[in-house]
Amino acid sequence: MSHQQLYPVTQAALARTYLTNEQYLQMYQQSIKEPEQFWAEHGRRLDWITPYTKVKDSSFELGNVHVNWFSDGTLNASYNCLDRHLPAKANQVAYFWEGDEPGVQKAVTYQELYDEVCQLANGMRSLGVGKGDKVTIYLPMIPQAAVALLACARIGAVHSVVFAGFSPDALGSRIVDCDSKLVITADQALRGARTTALKDNTDLALGHLGAANPVKHVIVVKHVGQNIDEHAGRDVWYHDLLAAQPKHCEPEPMNAEDPLFILYTSGSTGKPKGVLHTTGGYMVWASMTHQYVFDYQDGDVYWCAADVGWVTGHTYIVYGPLANGATSVMFEGVPTYPNVKRIAQIVDKYQVNVLYTAPTAIRALMAHGTAAVEGANLSSLHLLGSVGEPINPEAWHWYHEQVGKGQCPIVDTWWQTETGGALITPLPGATALKPGSATRPFFGVIPAIVDNEGNLLDGTCEGNLVLLDSWPGMMRTVFGDHDRFEQTYFSTYKGMYFTGDGAKRDEDGYYWLTGRVDDVLNVSGHRLGTAEIESCLVAHEAIAEAAVVGYPHDLKGQGIYVFIAPRVGVEPSDDLTKAVKEWVRREISPIASPDLIQWAPGLPKTRSGKIMRRILRKIAANEHDSLGDISTLADPSVVEHLIENRLNK
Ligand code: WTA
Repeated sequence: MSHQQLYPVTQAALARTYLTNEQYLQMYQQSIKEPEQFWAEHGRRLDWITPYTKVKDSSFELGNVHVNWFSDGTLNASYNCLDRHLPAKANQVAYFWEGDEPGVQKAVTYQELYDEVCQLANGMRSLGVGKGDKVTIYLPMIPQAAVALLACARIGAVHSVVFAGFSPDALGSRIVDCDSKLVITADQALRGARTTALKDNTDLALGHLGAANPVKHVIVVKHVGQNIDEHAGRDVWYHDLLAAQPKHCEPEPMNAEDPLFILYTSGSTGKPKGVLHTTGGYMVWASMTHQYVFDYQDGDVYWCAADVGWVTGHTYIVYGPLANGATSVMFEGVPTYPNVKRIAQIVDKYQVNVLYTAPTAIRALMAHGTAAVEGANLSSLHLLGSVGEPINPEAWHWYHEQVGKGQCPIVDTWWQTETGGALITPLPGATALKPGSATRPFFGVIPAIVDNEGNLLDGTCEGNLVLLDSWPGMMRTVFGDHDRFEQTYFSTYKGMYFTGDGAKRDEDGYYWLTGRVDDVLNVSGHRLGTAEIESCLVAHEAIAEAAVVGYPHDLKGQGIYVFIAPRVGVEPSDDLTKAVKEWVRREISPIASPDLIQWAPGLPKTRSGKIMRRILRKIAANEHDSLGDISTLADPSVVEHLIENRLNK
């Protein structure tokens, strides 16, 4: 690691930065040594209705895990994203919306955003939705997605966004889990050449729920113009609902610890869990990290090319940039539609200064050599960002040279749905970069590396990444299951938050993320639980048993490799393999669809009946000559059959 290339802070970044390296170091030390003073000061970046007097109250001790920040303050998130900017920025663009098809676009100013948020908030109140109610949002990347989040925040309703690529059943289970009263959706979503019938999916989801359906109303945005089945008394068109509503709506005063949103994410076991974030600490974190990590300054055009269905969209398309009064690009489509030049063309078109995207998108463009950047003027860019998975040095260099023309620092931001915002990340004016390293902790973050027994490791080391104390933006609980929260994150290593990620630390104290060490997959930056996919597979009539593992994949980072033992009497065939892939697409989402399916008479198990995934991972990665000890297997011949018929050769 010591031979790693170092990219010093550039003169251009230094000239405009909020923070130099000395300032970062000094502030970081203060944030760790005097967290109360530090956060008392930085919490004031928000407008509070009732200022807080308490700052931090948290414990990571199993059985008593709790996290509270600013807990006697009150505020409203939508007020902080909208109202407070109006005096100076009413006519400033909040979003340059770029549609799926080139040429389809719309600019939304802060005033327009405010007006529409107030109208939707009033409309939701007229449907009986208020503080504490849950609202499921199932929308494409259109301005109404941001409007919907903010309208919920305005009236104190708790939003739960479900990615528009998820199936009716995935949507339905998330609706039931948090007891949503309302769904906000659209007729259809467009992504590349693909359409998804969101309203039909919603009807299916609610239909399947039967008596368990908690939803009273469905608000439908007319986006594509497709006909929908209107359920009288339940469905209401977004434009009809808003038409009669005034463009003013009093924001609901919320306690700092009142929930802002729930976002479902996959873990290593069981069904997806509802990660719960609250209002005050999350908003401080979203706005502060957005400002410093992206060095955001008035006049910049900032583009986070994520989807609002994931946490990156929540924090870095909606809450962070809007809290800072930023101008953002919001993009409906995909990087490769209508062709690989799309990203560069959008950068050129809106003169984007900051581009934040995922390694999987970079690799998809890189696969076409330099075609993706030819013919576009990218000179407006001064900063690039990366998120979602470790960025391999090859992709880092391509991004740096081809997109950034060697001039733009890359902020490789490590974080999770649970952490609310970036935790380990370079700051452009402060941090010398090493390709592939997320570098150093943000203020208030105390990362550490432990071995498998939980011993803290010093200096240069490799192990499991933990966090030793709370920060304002962290999740507060798993919705409806605090015990699961404690068990998932705090029971592996005593008194520490376990991230599920492996990491190394080098001689400069830089962190290098090495990927998940649990049964969570990261496919094209999408987080998927192997248990979730397995339980979907075994629900198929042809399948007796299934095991899912990840394997290295050039474009996706990780691919999904499935080992299946069929039911007695079932003959595996290409058609059946296809049908199983289709099944997973339909039951969960296209993003969960297996890349490789290997049929086998049996799966390798210990004598106590536990599937030995370690072995399956090796076979999937084509590393079967280093299987390690297989003497504990009930039937070692199973492994030979698997190796012989492996698919990733
Ligand atoms: C991975 C996305 C390396 C990591 C914000 C984490 C990363 C999981 C990085 C969370 C990065 C995210 N370098 N790995 N810069 N960013 N990850 O919840 O494994 O969808 O635990 O949040 O993505 O995924 P999630």
